[in-house]
Amino acid sequence: MNAVPQNTSPLLPIAMLAELTYRCPLACPYCSNPLSMSGRSSELPTEIWVDVFRQAAELGILHLHLSGGEPASRRDLEELVSAAGEHGLYSNLITSGVGLTEQRLGELKRRGLDHVQLSIQGVDHATADKFSGYKNSLARKLAVAEWVARLDIPLTLNAVMHRQNLDRLEDTIELAVQLGARRLEVATVQFHGWAEQNRGALMPTREQVRQAGEIVRAARERLRGILVIDYVPADYYARFPKACMGGWGATSMNVAPDGAVLPCHAAHTIPGLVFENVQERSLRDIWEASQSFNAFRGNEWMQEPCRSCERKHVDFGGCRCQAMALAGDARATDPACSLSPLHLDLVAAAERDAASQETELVYRKLTSPA
Ligand code: SF4
Ligand code: FES
Repeated sequence: MNAVPQNTSPLLPIAMLAELTYRCPLACPYCSNPLSMSGRSSELPTEIWVDVFRQAAELGILHLHLSGGEPASRRDLEELVSAAGEHGLYSNLITSGVGLTEQRLGELKRRGLDHVQLSIQGVDHATADKFSGYKNSLARKLAVAEWVARLDIPLTLNAVMHRQNLDRLEDTIELAVQLGARRLEVATVQFHGWAEQNRGALMPTREQVRQAGEIVRAARERLRGILVIDYVPADYYARFPKACMGGWGATSMNVAPDGAVLPCHAAHTIPGLVFENVQERSLRDIWEASQSFNAFRGNEWMQEPCRSCERKHVDFGGCRCQAMALAGDARATDPACSLSPLHLDLVAAAERDAASQETELVYRKLTSPA
Protein backbone atom coordinates (compact mmCIF):
# COMPACT_ATOMS: atom_id res chain seq x y z
CA MET A 1 0.00 0.00 0.00
CA ASN A 2 1.41 3.44 -0.76
CA ALA A 3 1.45 6.39 1.59
CA VAL A 4 -0.65 8.96 -0.25
CA PRO A 5 -2.61 10.91 2.39
CA GLN A 6 -6.23 9.87 2.77
CA ASN A 7 -9.14 12.15 2.13
CA THR A 8 -10.57 11.74 5.63
CA SER A 9 -11.08 15.42 6.33
CA PRO A 10 -13.37 17.10 3.81
CA LEU A 11 -11.84 19.17 1.06
CA LEU A 12 -13.58 22.33 0.00
CA PRO A 13 -16.41 21.67 -2.44
CA ILE A 14 -16.10 23.32 -5.84
CA ALA A 15 -19.56 22.80 -7.27
CA MET A 16 -23.18 22.57 -6.28
CA LEU A 17 -25.94 21.01 -8.35
CA ALA A 18 -29.10 22.82 -7.26
CA GLU A 19 -32.06 20.72 -8.39
CA LEU A 20 -34.61 23.52 -8.21
CA THR A 21 -37.58 21.33 -9.13
CA TYR A 22 -38.45 17.85 -10.33
CA ARG A 23 -41.14 19.30 -12.62
CA CYS A 24 -40.20 18.89 -16.26
CA PRO A 25 -42.10 19.05 -19.54
CA LEU A 26 -39.85 16.32 -20.94
CA ALA A 27 -40.01 12.66 -19.94
CA CYS A 28 -36.57 11.28 -20.90
CA PRO A 29 -36.35 7.54 -20.28
CA TYR A 30 -32.79 7.87 -18.93
CA CYS A 31 -33.41 10.71 -16.49
CA SER A 32 -31.15 10.46 -13.46
CA ASN A 33 -33.82 11.84 -11.12
CA PRO A 34 -35.26 9.42 -8.52
CA LEU A 35 -38.04 7.01 -9.51
CA SER A 36 -40.17 8.52 -6.79
CA MET A 37 -40.39 12.32 -7.12
CA SER A 38 -42.67 14.89 -5.63
CA GLY A 39 -44.05 18.04 -7.24
CA ARG A 40 -44.19 21.76 -6.55
CA SER A 41 -45.60 21.56 -3.01
CA SER A 42 -42.38 20.18 -1.55
CA GLU A 43 -40.00 22.60 -3.31
CA LEU A 44 -37.90 25.07 -1.35
CA PRO A 45 -39.17 28.65 -1.59
CA THR A 46 -37.09 31.41 -3.19
CA GLU A 47 -35.71 32.85 0.04
CA ILE A 48 -34.33 29.52 1.21
CA TRP A 49 -32.61 28.86 -2.12
CA VAL A 50 -31.10 32.35 -1.93
CA ASP A 51 -29.76 31.57 1.52
CA VAL A 52 -28.41 28.22 0.29
CA PHE A 53 -26.47 30.08 -2.42
CA ARG A 54 -25.05 32.45 0.21
CA GLN A 55 -23.93 29.50 2.31
CA ALA A 56 -22.50 27.78 -0.77
CA ALA A 57 -20.37 30.82 -1.60
CA GLU A 58 -19.15 31.04 2.01
CA LEU A 59 -18.17 27.40 1.85
CA GLY A 60 -15.97 28.08 -1.17
CA ILE A 61 -18.22 26.78 -3.93
CA LEU A 62 -17.47 28.41 -7.28
CA HIS A 63 -19.81 26.73 -9.76
CA LEU A 64 -23.56 26.64 -9.33
CA HIS A 65 -25.42 24.34 -11.70
CA LEU A 66 -29.11 25.25 -11.81
CA SER A 67 -30.83 22.04 -12.72
CA GLY A 68 -33.92 19.92 -12.19
CA GLY A 69 -36.18 18.64 -13.64
CA GLU A 70 -36.46 21.72 -15.78
CA PRO A 71 -35.23 24.77 -13.84
CA ALA A 72 -37.14 27.10 -16.19
CA SER A 73 -40.32 25.63 -14.64
CA ARG A 74 -39.52 27.81 -11.61
CA ARG A 75 -41.09 31.24 -12.01
CA ASP A 76 -38.44 32.67 -9.68
CA LEU A 77 -35.52 31.51 -11.84
CA GLU A 78 -34.62 35.14 -12.58
CA GLU A 79 -34.38 35.97 -8.85
CA LEU A 80 -32.30 32.86 -8.24
CA VAL A 81 -29.87 33.78 -11.02
CA SER A 82 -29.54 37.29 -9.55
CA ALA A 83 -28.82 35.78 -6.13
CA ALA A 84 -26.14 33.50 -7.60
CA GLY A 85 -24.42 36.49 -9.18
CA GLU A 86 -24.67 38.57 -6.00
CA HIS A 87 -22.86 35.83 -4.12
CA GLY A 88 -20.14 35.56 -6.76
CA LEU A 89 -21.17 32.11 -8.03
CA TYR A 90 -20.63 31.15 -11.67
CA SER A 91 -24.12 30.13 -12.78
CA ASN A 92 -24.80 27.41 -15.32
CA LEU A 93 -28.38 26.77 -16.42
CA ILE A 94 -28.87 23.09 -17.28
CA THR A 95 -32.01 23.11 -19.38
CA SER A 96 -34.11 21.29 -21.94
CA GLY A 97 -34.90 24.74 -23.37
CA VAL A 98 -38.62 24.28 -22.86
CA GLY A 99 -39.98 27.18 -20.79
CA LEU A 100 -37.45 29.67 -22.17
CA THR A 101 -38.06 32.48 -24.62
CA GLU A 102 -35.49 34.78 -26.15
CA GLN A 103 -36.78 37.54 -23.91
CA ARG A 104 -36.51 35.41 -20.78
CA LEU A 105 -33.00 34.31 -21.69
CA GLY A 106 -32.07 37.95 -22.24
CA GLU A 107 -33.37 38.79 -18.78
CA LEU A 108 -31.44 35.90 -17.26
CA LYS A 109 -28.29 37.15 -18.95
CA ARG A 110 -28.95 40.68 -17.71
CA ARG A 111 -29.20 39.26 -14.19
CA GLY A 112 -25.82 37.56 -14.56
CA LEU A 113 -26.39 34.10 -16.05
CA ASP A 114 -22.93 32.89 -17.09
CA HIS A 115 -23.54 29.74 -19.11
CA VAL A 116 -26.24 27.56 -20.67
CA GLN A 117 -26.07 23.80 -20.95
CA LEU A 118 -28.72 22.61 -23.39
CA SER A 119 -29.75 18.96 -23.59
CA ILE A 120 -30.33 17.30 -26.92
CA GLN A 121 -32.03 13.93 -27.28
CA GLY A 122 -31.46 13.29 -31.00
CA VAL A 123 -30.34 15.03 -34.19
CA ASP A 124 -33.46 14.12 -36.18
CA HIS A 125 -37.03 14.99 -35.26
CA ALA A 126 -38.27 11.42 -34.75
CA THR A 127 -35.41 10.42 -32.41
CA ALA A 128 -35.54 13.69 -30.50
CA ASP A 129 -39.29 13.35 -29.94
CA LYS A 130 -39.03 9.69 -28.97
CA PHE A 131 -36.31 10.23 -26.35
CA SER A 132 -37.67 13.44 -24.89
CA GLY A 133 -41.30 12.34 -24.83
CA TYR A 134 -42.03 15.84 -26.16
CA LYS A 135 -43.33 16.78 -29.59
CA ASN A 136 -41.18 19.03 -31.79
CA SER A 137 -38.45 19.11 -29.18
CA LEU A 138 -35.61 19.42 -31.72
CA ALA A 139 -37.09 22.54 -33.32
CA ARG A 140 -37.43 24.09 -29.86
CA LYS A 141 -33.82 23.28 -28.98
CA LEU A 142 -32.47 24.67 -32.23
CA ALA A 143 -34.36 27.91 -31.55
CA VAL A 144 -32.99 28.11 -27.99
CA ALA A 145 -29.44 27.51 -29.22
CA GLU A 146 -29.89 30.34 -31.71
CA TRP A 147 -31.10 32.73 -28.98
CA VAL A 148 -28.19 31.73 -26.74
CA ALA A 149 -25.76 32.47 -29.57
CA ARG A 150 -27.42 35.84 -30.32
CA LEU A 151 -27.17 36.79 -26.67
CA ASP A 152 -23.53 35.69 -26.65
CA ILE A 153 -23.96 33.32 -23.71
CA PRO A 154 -21.43 30.45 -23.74
CA LEU A 155 -23.20 27.22 -24.72
CA THR A 156 -22.55 23.58 -23.92
CA LEU A 157 -24.59 20.96 -25.72
CA ASN A 158 -25.33 17.91 -23.62
CA ALA A 159 -26.07 14.63 -25.41
CA VAL A 160 -26.83 11.37 -23.65
CA MET A 161 -25.92 8.56 -26.06
CA HIS A 162 -27.28 5.01 -26.10
CA ARG A 163 -27.89 2.14 -28.48
CA GLN A 164 -30.62 3.95 -30.38
CA ASN A 165 -28.68 7.16 -31.10
CA LEU A 166 -24.96 6.30 -30.89
CA ASP A 167 -24.86 5.71 -34.64
CA ARG A 168 -25.53 9.45 -35.04
CA LEU A 169 -22.60 10.56 -32.87
CA GLU A 170 -20.75 12.20 -35.78
CA ASP A 171 -23.90 14.17 -36.66
CA THR A 172 -24.28 15.18 -33.01
CA ILE A 173 -20.74 16.57 -33.00
CA GLU A 174 -21.43 18.37 -36.29
CA LEU A 175 -24.62 19.89 -34.87
CA ALA A 176 -22.73 21.20 -31.83
CA VAL A 177 -20.27 22.96 -34.16
CA GLN A 178 -23.09 24.41 -36.29
CA LEU A 179 -24.86 25.75 -33.22
CA GLY A 180 -21.73 27.52 -32.03
CA ALA A 181 -21.40 25.45 -28.84
CA ARG A 182 -18.01 25.80 -27.19
CA ARG A 183 -18.32 22.44 -25.52
CA LEU A 184 -20.13 19.18 -26.15
CA GLU A 185 -20.75 16.71 -23.39
CA VAL A 186 -21.17 13.23 -24.82
CA ALA A 187 -22.31 11.05 -21.94
CA THR A 188 -22.94 7.39 -22.59
CA VAL A 189 -26.07 6.51 -20.66
CA GLN A 190 -25.42 5.54 -17.03
CA PHE A 191 -27.85 3.01 -15.64
CA HIS A 192 -29.15 4.86 -12.60
CA GLY A 193 -32.66 6.19 -12.08
CA TRP A 194 -35.00 5.76 -15.03
CA ALA A 195 -32.31 4.36 -17.33
CA GLU A 196 -32.19 1.23 -15.18
CA GLN A 197 -35.83 0.60 -16.18
CA ASN A 198 -34.82 0.81 -19.84
CA ARG A 199 -31.63 -1.26 -20.01
CA GLY A 200 -32.92 -3.52 -22.78
CA ALA A 201 -33.78 -0.58 -25.03
CA LEU A 202 -30.75 1.61 -24.27
CA MET A 203 -27.70 -0.58 -23.66
CA PRO A 204 -25.13 0.07 -26.41
CA THR A 205 -23.22 -2.75 -28.05
CA ARG A 206 -19.52 -3.22 -27.43
CA GLU A 207 -18.87 -2.32 -31.09
CA GLN A 208 -20.84 0.94 -30.80
CA VAL A 209 -18.81 1.87 -27.73
CA ARG A 210 -15.53 1.08 -29.49
CA GLN A 211 -16.51 3.18 -32.49
CA ALA A 212 -17.70 6.03 -30.28
CA GLY A 213 -14.26 6.19 -28.64
CA GLU A 214 -12.63 6.47 -32.07
CA ILE A 215 -15.06 9.09 -33.30
CA VAL A 216 -14.46 11.23 -30.20
CA ARG A 217 -10.67 10.88 -30.52
CA ALA A 218 -10.73 11.93 -34.18
CA ALA A 219 -13.17 14.80 -33.58
CA ARG A 220 -11.09 16.18 -30.69
CA GLU A 221 -8.13 16.30 -33.02
CA ARG A 222 -10.06 17.82 -35.93
CA LEU A 223 -11.91 20.40 -33.82
CA ARG A 224 -9.10 21.58 -31.58
CA GLY A 225 -9.70 25.26 -30.79
CA ILE A 226 -13.31 25.03 -32.05
CA LEU A 227 -15.13 22.56 -29.81
CA VAL A 228 -14.15 20.87 -26.56
CA ILE A 229 -15.63 17.39 -26.25
CA ASP A 230 -16.15 15.93 -22.78
CA TYR A 231 -16.73 12.23 -23.12
CA VAL A 232 -18.16 9.90 -20.48
CA PRO A 233 -17.53 6.43 -21.90
CA ALA A 234 -19.55 3.32 -21.09
CA ASP A 235 -17.80 1.89 -18.07
CA TYR A 236 -19.52 -1.51 -18.34
CA TYR A 237 -17.13 -2.47 -21.17
CA ALA A 238 -14.09 -0.72 -19.63
CA ARG A 239 -11.15 -2.10 -17.67
CA PHE A 240 -11.44 0.30 -14.76
CA PRO A 241 -14.39 2.29 -13.42
CA LYS A 242 -14.80 6.03 -13.57
CA ALA A 243 -13.84 8.14 -10.55
CA CYS A 244 -17.47 8.91 -9.85
CA MET A 245 -18.04 12.44 -8.51
CA GLY A 246 -14.25 12.81 -8.26
CA GLY A 247 -14.60 10.85 -5.02
CA TRP A 248 -17.46 10.74 -2.55
CA GLY A 249 -17.97 14.04 -0.71
CA ALA A 250 -14.77 15.38 -2.28
CA THR A 251 -15.68 18.12 -4.74
CA SER A 252 -19.41 18.67 -5.01
CA MET A 253 -22.86 18.31 -3.54
CA ASN A 254 -26.43 18.04 -4.80
CA VAL A 255 -29.32 19.86 -3.22
CA ALA A 256 -32.68 18.23 -4.02
CA PRO A 257 -35.82 20.33 -4.62
CA ASP A 258 -36.96 19.80 -1.00
CA GLY A 259 -33.58 20.87 0.45
CA ALA A 260 -32.09 17.44 1.14
CA VAL A 261 -28.33 17.52 0.52
CA LEU A 262 -26.80 14.49 -1.19
CA PRO A 263 -23.24 13.56 -2.15
CA CYS A 264 -24.44 12.52 -5.64
CA HIS A 265 -27.66 12.30 -7.64
CA ALA A 266 -28.22 8.60 -6.93
CA ALA A 267 -27.15 8.50 -3.28
CA HIS A 268 -30.77 7.95 -2.18
CA THR A 269 -30.49 4.41 -3.62
CA ILE A 270 -28.02 3.46 -0.86
CA PRO A 271 -29.92 2.19 2.19
CA GLY A 272 -28.87 3.48 5.60
CA LEU A 273 -27.67 6.91 4.49
CA VAL A 274 -29.33 9.85 6.20
CA PHE A 275 -29.71 12.99 4.10
CA GLU A 276 -29.90 16.16 6.09
CA ASN A 277 -31.85 19.17 4.96
CA VAL A 278 -30.69 22.76 4.53
CA GLN A 279 -33.81 23.84 6.38
CA GLU A 280 -32.52 22.12 9.52
CA ARG A 281 -28.72 22.26 9.39
CA SER A 282 -26.17 24.55 7.80
CA LEU A 283 -24.59 23.57 4.51
CA ARG A 284 -21.13 23.67 6.09
CA ASP A 285 -22.20 21.29 8.87
CA ILE A 286 -23.78 18.93 6.38
CA TRP A 287 -20.67 18.97 4.17
CA GLU A 288 -18.21 18.54 7.02
CA ALA A 289 -20.00 16.40 9.55
CA SER A 290 -23.05 14.62 8.19
CA GLN A 291 -23.26 10.83 8.19
CA SER A 292 -23.99 10.61 4.48
CA PHE A 293 -21.06 12.78 3.33
CA ASN A 294 -18.64 10.96 5.60
CA ALA A 295 -19.85 7.47 4.71
CA PHE A 296 -17.31 6.91 1.91
CA ARG A 297 -14.64 9.54 2.46
CA GLY A 298 -11.08 8.30 2.76
CA ASN A 299 -10.54 4.61 2.05
CA GLU A 300 -11.06 2.88 5.39
CA TRP A 301 -14.47 1.69 4.19
CA MET A 302 -13.02 -0.14 1.20
CA GLN A 303 -13.00 -3.89 0.77
CA GLU A 304 -10.61 -6.01 -1.28
CA PRO A 305 -9.54 -5.76 -4.04
CA CYS A 306 -9.79 -1.93 -3.74
CA ARG A 307 -8.22 -1.80 -0.28
CA SER A 308 -4.81 -2.94 -1.48
CA CYS A 309 -5.06 -1.59 -5.03
CA GLU A 310 -2.82 1.29 -6.08
CA ARG A 311 -5.59 2.78 -8.22
CA LYS A 312 -7.74 3.50 -5.17
CA HIS A 313 -6.46 7.10 -5.15
CA VAL A 314 -7.31 7.42 -8.84
CA ASP A 315 -10.83 6.03 -9.11
CA PHE A 316 -11.81 5.72 -5.41
CA GLY A 317 -13.17 2.23 -6.07
CA GLY A 318 -15.59 3.50 -8.73
CA CYS A 319 -19.19 4.44 -8.14
CA ARG A 320 -20.83 3.67 -4.77
CA CYS A 321 -24.31 3.74 -6.26
CA GLN A 322 -23.34 1.33 -9.02
CA ALA A 323 -21.74 -0.97 -6.43
CA MET A 324 -25.01 -0.87 -4.50
CA ALA A 325 -27.12 -1.56 -7.57
CA LEU A 326 -25.00 -4.35 -8.99
CA ALA A 327 -23.25 -5.91 -6.00
CA GLY A 328 -25.92 -5.17 -3.39
CA ASP A 329 -23.23 -3.53 -1.23
CA ALA A 330 -22.19 0.12 -1.51
CA ARG A 331 -18.76 -0.75 -0.02
CA ALA A 332 -17.97 -3.30 -2.70
CA THR A 333 -15.62 -2.72 -5.62
CA ASP A 334 -17.64 -1.23 -8.46
CA PRO A 335 -18.39 -4.22 -10.74
CA ALA A 336 -17.36 -2.03 -13.69
CA CYS A 337 -13.79 -2.72 -12.52
CA SER A 338 -12.18 -5.72 -14.21
CA LEU A 339 -10.73 -6.69 -10.80
CA SER A 340 -14.19 -7.07 -9.25
CA PRO A 341 -15.33 -10.69 -8.86
CA LEU A 342 -18.65 -9.55 -10.38
CA HIS A 343 -17.16 -7.91 -13.47
CA LEU A 344 -17.74 -10.80 -15.85
CA ASP A 345 -21.39 -11.02 -14.74
CA LEU A 346 -21.76 -7.30 -15.44
CA VAL A 347 -20.27 -7.63 -18.92
CA ALA A 348 -22.48 -10.65 -19.68
CA ALA A 349 -25.58 -8.74 -18.53
CA ALA A 350 -24.56 -5.70 -20.63
CA GLU A 351 -24.07 -7.87 -23.69
CA ARG A 352 -27.42 -9.58 -23.09
CA ASP A 353 -29.17 -6.20 -22.84
CA ALA A 354 -27.31 -4.87 -25.88
CA ALA A 355 -28.57 -7.83 -27.93
CA SER A 356 -32.16 -7.24 -26.80
CA GLN A 357 -34.71 -6.32 -29.46
CA GLU A 358 -36.50 -4.07 -26.95
CA THR A 359 -37.35 -0.63 -28.30
CA GLU A 360 -40.27 0.34 -26.04
CA LEU A 361 -39.45 2.84 -23.31
CA VAL A 362 -40.58 3.54 -19.76
CA TYR A 363 -40.85 7.34 -19.55
CA ARG A 364 -39.98 9.46 -16.53
CA LYS A 365 -42.93 10.83 -14.58
CA LEU A 366 -43.68 12.53 -11.28
CA THR A 367 -45.34 10.39 -8.66
CA SER A 368 -47.43 13.24 -7.29
CA PRO A 369 -49.17 16.07 -9.12
CA ALA A 370 -47.05 19.11 -9.98
FE1 SF4 B 1 -10.26 0.95 -8.71
FE2 SF4 B 1 -10.90 -0.83 -6.79
FE3 SF4 B 1 -10.68 -1.61 -9.31
FE4 SF4 B 1 -8.49 -0.93 -7.95
S1 SF4 B 1 -9.84 -2.67 -7.51
S2 SF4 B 1 -8.98 -0.34 -10.04
S3 SF4 B 1 -9.33 0.76 -6.68
S4 SF4 B 1 -12.18 -0.16 -8.48
FE1 FES C 1 -23.49 7.96 -6.64
FE2 FES C 1 -21.62 7.37 -8.48
S1 FES C 1 -23.69 8.03 -8.77
S2 FES C 1 -21.37 7.59 -6.31
